[in-house]
This record gives sequence, structure tokens and C-alpha cells, in this order.
Amino acid sequence: MFKVLENEVLAPGLHRLVVEAPRVAAARRPGQFVIVRSAPGEERIPLTIGDADGASGTLTLFVQAIGAGTRKIVAVPPGGFLRDVAGPLGQPTHIENWGRVACIGGGVGTAVLYPLAKALAEAGNQVTTVIGGRSAEFILLEKELAAFSAEVRVTTEDGSRGRRGFVTLELEDLLRNPARRPRSVFAIGPVPMMRAVAEQTRPHGVATIVSLNPIMIDGTGMCGGCRVVVGTEARFACVDGPEFDGHLVDFQGLADRLTMYHEHEAQCRLAHAG
Ligand code: FES
Repeated sequence: MFKVLENEVLAPGLHRLVVEAPRVAAARRPGQFVIVRSAPGEERIPLTIGDADGASGTLTLFVQAIGAGTRKIVAVPPGGFLRDVAGPLGQPTHIENWGRVACIGGGVGTAVLYPLAKALAEAGNQVTTVIGGRSAEFILLEKELAAFSAEVRVTTEDGSRGRRGFVTLELEDLLRNPARRPRSVFAIGPVPMMRAVAEQTRPHGVATIVSLNPIMIDGTGMCGGCRVVVGTEARFACVDGPEFDGHLVDFQGLADRLTMYHEHEAQCRLAHAG
């Protein structure tokens, strides 16, 4: 059992949980994730580790309540317990000093981006961070990212904060300016956003890493639930990823697999409402 110490609402449906998990906190590296179950028999939810504190033995997890399983996790109050926090899983992010990098975060993906952007800055990179959301209330961690980014650019779909439109607008400006063009781009967010970023950087030959969050079950490479096609190969996000070369990912296949349980989710929502 893993004690929830804090449970804060950051935006509608988005929670920041601080969880006691000393062994995971000590071993975790940026880019890795855990699989969480709220109670025995509940759905296993993969969550990227937002931050970890080895000294206090705690993990910070950002959870978007979009399905039955995630809603049960965010319903655990401070002082309550999660049944499982298994990890750290997956490959850590490959960090090196590329010189100039751009970190692109969409919605809750920004929370996942945070530890990665921080590690890139600590490795000596000049980090330009671009974050976007539907509206101002979905813009996350701007101040925290500004603490180590050379610059933070913000976009919202409704124009309520920063530039009106999508993160790709700001990225286009960076790519078109030889003095600002990043050598590597890291994109984390909804599948359409990561796909758009990868298509945008491809003609510029700028390396692009995306972090995938497919359906996961065992998290050990055994079940095949998290299979994604990268180039000509089938890869398992839980053991080979979650980060992959964005120019090689089959985003359409990933999007199709992510909708597999929509009907089941709708039934769960109805049952919950009833
Ligand atoms: Fe089962 Fe990755 S979650 S193979």
C-alpha cells in the first residue's frame, strides 16, 4: 500500500498527487513511469513520474481523470492509500548536451515534460519551452518551467493566455529562424499534437523525441498491450520506450489502439452516473 500525502487539483480534471514510494523514488530517472492501481482488481494505469524526492521517498504524479480507472485514483484523498505503485518502468530519457533544444508540452503532457526539460537544462542545454492548452486554466507549471528554461512560450486555443492557436505556431517560428532553431525537439502531449510536431520538424531534419502513453497492462513486455509500430518494427512502449523517434512512430496505429476501449469506458461512465 502506498500513502497519498497530497492531492491537489491543478486544472479541471487534473490532479497532482504526492505519494510515499521510497524505493521507486530512489531508483527513478527522468522519462520513467509507474503503473498504479487504486485498489485490488482495478485497472492498471501507467503514469509518468513527474518528479521524485529520494530524501523524503516521495513521487509526484500528474493524473488526468479521463476514464474510470484514473477517476478512482484521483478520488484518493490525502492520508488514503493506493494499492500498487509499480516501477520505475521503461527506459530513462537519453540526455546529452545538444546545445539548443525545444521542449513542447500539450495539456497534461506539460507535467510529463517538466522533469525531462529540467534534466536537459541541467545537462547544459539552452531550453526553449513551448506549452499549450485549451485555455488559460489548462496551462501548467509555467513558473516552474521558467525557472530553468531560457524562455517559455505559451499558446491557448481560445487566446485566453499567450498566443492564440496551437504550440506548432511557436515551434514554426523557432524552426524558421536559423539563430533559434533547436537541434533536438522533445514533444509530449495528445497524439495529434505529437504527430503534428513530428511532421513539422521532419523537413528541417531536426531530431524529434516523443513520449507515448498507449494502453498498458502488465508493464513488463509480456502482454503486448502497449505495442506501437516504430519504423518497420513493433516495439513495446513499456520496456522499449516510452520515448521514441517521432519521425518513425505510426501515430495512426497508436490513435486507433487508444480508442479500443472507448465503448467500455462509456458504459463505466453510465454505470458511475447511475
Ligand atoms: Fe504489456 Fe507493455 S504493457 S507489453
